[in-house]
Amino acid sequence: MANVATAQSATPRDIRKIVADLGYPTDWNWAWENYKPTIIAIAREYGLKRHLEIGGGRDPLFAPDEVRALGFEVTLNDISAKELSLAPSGYAKVQCDIAAADAPEILGKEHYDLAYCRMVMEHVPDVARMWRNIHAVLAPGGMALSFFPTLYAPPYVLNRLIPESVSRPLLEFVFPDRKPDGDNPKFPAHYDYCFSDESRIVPMLRDAGFSEITVLPFWGYSYFWKFPILRQIDAGFTRLAQDRGWRSVSSFAYVIVRK
Ligand SMILES: C[S@@+](CC[C@H](N)C(=O)[O-])C[C@H]1O[C@@H](n2cnc3c(N)ncnc32)[C@H](O)[C@@H]1O
Repeated sequence: MANVATAQSATPRDIRKIVADLGYPTDWNWAWENYKPTIIAIAREYGLKRHLEIGGGRDPLFAPDEVRALGFEVTLNDISAKELSLAPSGYAKVQCDIAAADAPEILGKEHYDLAYCRMVMEHVPDVARMWRNIHAVLAPGGMALSFFPTLYAPPYVLNRLIPESVSRPLLEFVFPDRKPDGDNPKFPAHYDYCFSDESRIVPMLRDAGFSEITVLPFWGYSYFWKFPILRQIDAGFTRLAQDRGWRSVSSFAYVIVRK
């Protein structure tokens, strides 16, 4: 694997050009398969070496050998000491709530060139504060990405409406690996600012201080695959929403911002 954390390209490509070159379609499978390639491409394009993975938990995006091969310096953050302890060694690890008032001091102001998280934003009750903190820990010109599920996709609407005491056993029944001792435990979700609709999220990101903001929507998920009839109806609706570009019912989004 080529070391990518070298000098910035003479004329960095625009974010939309970078994802277009990676073949961006609005399909959810692409989103899952291409989050890491997108981060690598952006790090290469803009020469971003010092990384902060927020809520990296037990399963950081880049394995220690990838971090070394790519020439990154990755600090792993999580609110949970247990999750951090389950992550492999080979990273700097900082336990804190990314939305806490003192997070910038704990993580280091202007200390990182690139910050990113995957499936974390929906668990943070105060997302506006989270983005203000991300802005504070980024060096000038630094960039950040978040990959998150979006409202009003039906599974997330249900998850938000149904009390945790009901949704948790239901999810654990359908997906046994979502149990607390499983490989993919469920964390309480709030979905604060979890929208791909730009009118709902861009003003908050501007208020946090970001100048360049890109929001990429995706449609599709597997939550209803075990339920015949519901699965077909939902898949038909999701396809229609994707064809028409209805962001109000997208399933996932990437937010990519520059300080
Ligand atoms: C669904 S897991 C995702 C883990 C990992 N990013 C992944 O994609 O596999 C959510 C993670 O976010 C962490 N988390 C939740 N709220 C957080 C916060 N306010 N600050 C930092 N981490 C948080 C959880 O402890 C957990 O490790």
